[in-house]
Amino acid sequence: MSERSTKFYLKIKKLLYYFYGEKFFKQLNYDWSKYPSRSFIINKVIKEKDYRSYLEIGCDVNKNYGNIEVEKKIGVDPKTGGTHKMTSDEFFKKNKDNFDIVFIDGLHECEQVDRDIENSLKFLNPRGIILLHDCLPIKIWHQIVPSVYPKWNGDVWKSIVKARTKTHINTYTIIADHGIGVIFREKNRKPLKLDIKNFKKLKYEEYYKNHSEFMNLISVDKFFDILKLYN
Ligand SMILES: C[S@@+](CC[C@H](N)C(=O)[O-])C[C@H]1O[C@@H](n2cnc3c(N)ncnc32)[C@H](O)[C@@H]1O
Repeated sequence: MSERSTKFYLKIKKLLYYFYGEKFFKQLNYDWSKYPSRSFIINKVIKEKDYRSYLEIGCDVNKNYGNIEVEKKIGVDPKTGGTHKMTSDEFFKKNKDNFDIVFIDGLHECEQVDRDIENSLKFLNPRGIILLHDCLPIKIWHQIVPSVYPKWNGDVWKSIVKARTKTHINTYTIIADHGIGVIFREKNRKPLKLDIKNFKKLKYEEYYKNHSEFMNLISVDKFFDILKLYN
């Protein structure tokens, strides 16, 4: 499909959503250009924890992957970039390696992100960490699945809300670069009490009104303070 017809197709989907979808159009007020980038944060984590092995799920044109400085790195993407041309599900079926840090940035649909989290935890070294991109959409349009907007975060945020209810992992969201989810393999220090069976059904309005608690928001500085104590 040409770029023009893709844009046209997205406009039609947006129009349909406008009539038939959720109607809550308030926006969060984050200007991502004012915060450190994902590459800066990932490299600082690797340096501070002396991590040796890195896995990136979803590499695209290696914009982030190419910046990461670490002893051993693997990138998975069915289309471009990284080292393994396959989906994350295919990769995890064959994989035998463990990693100190996993960066999840593949298909931004919560069911897939849930699987990426579960699989990453299976191959995470004991004091390893999982980071996830695109956890803080600022507009309803950025998080609709399937995508109706070129700058798409998808509904990764729903996977973070689900992770926040689990007792065996400790989840935060750093306020930087479209929201960077963090999962530590340790007891949840502030579990989210939400009696929900299907997190997919969460609404943007609920996210907008509760995002600080739902996502367990922290600043970049607070994250690095917490990371220091993760041993
Ligand atoms: C947002 S881009 C990644 C951007 C990159 N991580 C960065 O920081 O610059 C998402 C990528 O995920 C890839 N992708 C889509 N479905 C996937 C899947 N099931 N497993 C792994 N990667 C997937 C797409 O091909 C695309 O290149």
